[in-house]
Amino acid sequence: MNKLKKAIIPAAGLGTRFLPITKAVPKPMLSVLDKPTIQYIAEELSSVGIEDIVIVVSPGSDVIQRHFGKNQDLEDRLLSDGKTALYEIEKATRRFNVQFAVQEVPNGLAGAILCAEPYIGDEPFALLLGDELIYAGENDKPCMKRLAEIFESTGKSVIATMEVFGDDVSKYGNIGIANEEDGVMQVSAIVEKPSLAEALSNNAIIGRYVLSGKVMGMLKTLKPRNNEIYLTDALDTLAENGELLASCFEGKRYDVGDKFGYIKANVEFALMSKEIGEDTSAYIKELAKNLK
Ligand code: G1P
Repeated sequence: MNKLKKAIIPAAGLGTRFLPITKAVPKPMLSVLDKPTIQYIAEELSSVGIEDIVIVVSPGSDVIQRHFGKNQDLEDRLLSDGKTALYEIEKATRRFNVQFAVQEVPNGLAGAILCAEPYIGDEPFALLLGDELIYAGENDKPCMKRLAEIFESTGKSVIATMEVFGDDVSKYGNIGIANEEDGVMQVSAIVEKPSLAEALSNNAIIGRYVLSGKVMGMLKTLKPRNNEIYLTDALDTLAENGELLASCFEGKRYDVGDKFGYIKANVEFALMSKEIGEDTSAYIKELAKNLK
């Protein structure tokens, strides 16, 4: 009954921080190395076997649909040229079953999730925010797998968290923790982007969640504040009722919605690349010699 089958990726932000590139290219199509960020996020779902994904986009994001669709001419060309490795890379972009929901006006995270309601109904869903990549190394349990396991064994909603300090505390949703057992925390309360004094703990909410079937219904009843509907309001009710859990994650998080975070992701993925990793490493070492 608690089997997780669907996911929502809200990715409707206009990406104005990245202008001018985001004038004609939707932010989710910005690439880390050779792959758009939105594809990395969809691939995070492979660890839990989810293929049904709803991507919430802003109007005019057809290029994202093209990315996940079939390009017959390109496939024919790659095959006839004998470029089978590239053909496989291209084909991997259309292995997901993606639906697109358009968020006509920006009205908050819960507003974006509600755009996906026709595809989700009252089923549980994974929620992956489009501005973050969570990289799992060979020895790491992927973040979504960890969350799905906790949800499937408890039936409770679960969010991923990380420790933050100083000014960073105010950049994220913040959770109070009632107790913790085997790395699973019972969340007692939530406060969205608190001042340092208001923070309940050093645990920040990151953009990975598994939400139970009742959450969509809860979101429908929320009243907007400042023209936005806040997911936090529903999570807070879950927390009050003892129905919200949290867990740290293994691996590394990249904030690709931020210019510096985006550059870090590109540099580190280049260093990990089989194709250009060694050259990148040699280049950075050389470059560093002359850095002040
Ligand atoms: C959202 C959530 C916040 C969370 C953050 C993670 O905020 O509302 O609770 O900590 O994502 O990135 P946003 O960054 O969209 O303002």
